[in-house]
Amino acid sequence: MEKEELDPETKYTRRRFFVLGAMAASGAALAGIVGGGLLAYFFPPKRFRKKIGGWQKVKPAGECPEGQAVASVYFGIPILVLREGGKVKAFSAVCPHLGCIVKWDAERKNFPCPCHDSFFNAQGLVQKGPARPYNLMPFEAKEEEGMVLVSLPAPEKLKAYPSWFRFAMQYGG
Ligand code: FES
Repeated sequence: MEKEELDPETKYTRRRFFVLGAMAASGAALAGIVGGGLLAYFFPPKRFRKKIGGWQKVKPAGECPEGQAVASVYFGIPILVLREGGKVKAFSAVCPHLGCIVKWDAERKNFPCPCHDSFFNAQGLVQKGPARPYNLMPFEAKEEEGMVLVSLPAPEKLKAYPSWFRFAMQYGG
């Protein structure tokens, strides 16, 4: 078999040069595909995003006892449905500080955030911690035919929140 000559500048044979070139091109293509996929996943183009909203059934009313806040979801957004004085209220369970999920503390009647010690009272108003000045986002809530229904509030009510939070609330989880 004939021995290939080394290129004096690169010190590669022609075959090795082509193999390396093909490998580099494949690597770049793969990186492009993976990177593009990740970008599209985290920042989907507007035409692929589905805006959410409107009334949704989230819980049977019988599963929302007085003085308790029960967890549910609205288009993938974790929410808490609280019954007080016979009436239901609903809040986003997403802490507006950095997105941890708040829980209901029935004894203290507030919503503590497990991450950085913020807490919110039963009206969803921030009482302390780095979530200030943001309150838990209230949903509209009502009962109909034995079900609790919630709806996103009017868009103006979202304006007070940070942009990542508004995005999550408008496009769901
Ligand atoms: Fe809730 Fe930081 S995420 S206080």
